[in-house]
Amino acid sequence: MAETRKIGYAVVGLGVGRSHAKAALHSKNGKLVAVCDLIPEKLEKAKSEYGDILTYTDFDEMLKNPDIEVVSICLPSGMHAEFAVRAMEAGKNVLVEKPVDITV
Ligand SMILES: NC(=O)c1ccc[n+]([C@@H]2O[C@H](COP(=O)([O-])OP(=O)(O)OC[C@H]3O[C@@H](n4cnc5c(N)ncnc54)[C@H](O)[C@@H]3O)[C@@H](O)[C@H]2O)c1
Repeated sequence: MAETRKIGYAVVGLGVGRSHAKAALHSKNGKLVAVCDLIPEKLEKAKSEYGDILTYTDFDEMLKNPDIEVVSICLPSGMHAEFAVRAMEAGKNVLVEKPVDITV
């Protein structure tokens, strides 16, 4: 049987985003490619827990990676819509933590 192609996944925001990263890591159809956070210690911890992944402090830099097809937006409330739009403009699919935004 042909091997299923794995969807390249990334997560921005390593609070609840760690759960998203773990789900991608253990997914049959997904591959955790990268994580992004402003806090270097969180990125170091992610690397030690998730193995061979890329880490970024700059979201827009991460979006340039063509291996990433889906980005989980797990930033603090009020940042979701803006970052989701940036990711979509870079051609990525997005999964957005609730709430989508805090103003209409
Ligand atoms: N914690 C939960 O169980 C939970 C459950 C459901 C929904 N949510 C939602 O998820 C969102 C995140 O919550 P949380 O508890 O994970 O918050 P958190 O503060 O623990 O994590 C947010 C992370 O985003 C990072 N960050 C902030 N600005 C950044 C930027 N510009 N680039 C990269 N990283 C950046 C921070 O350094 C931090 O590590 C919130 O909207 C919350 O409502 C959380």
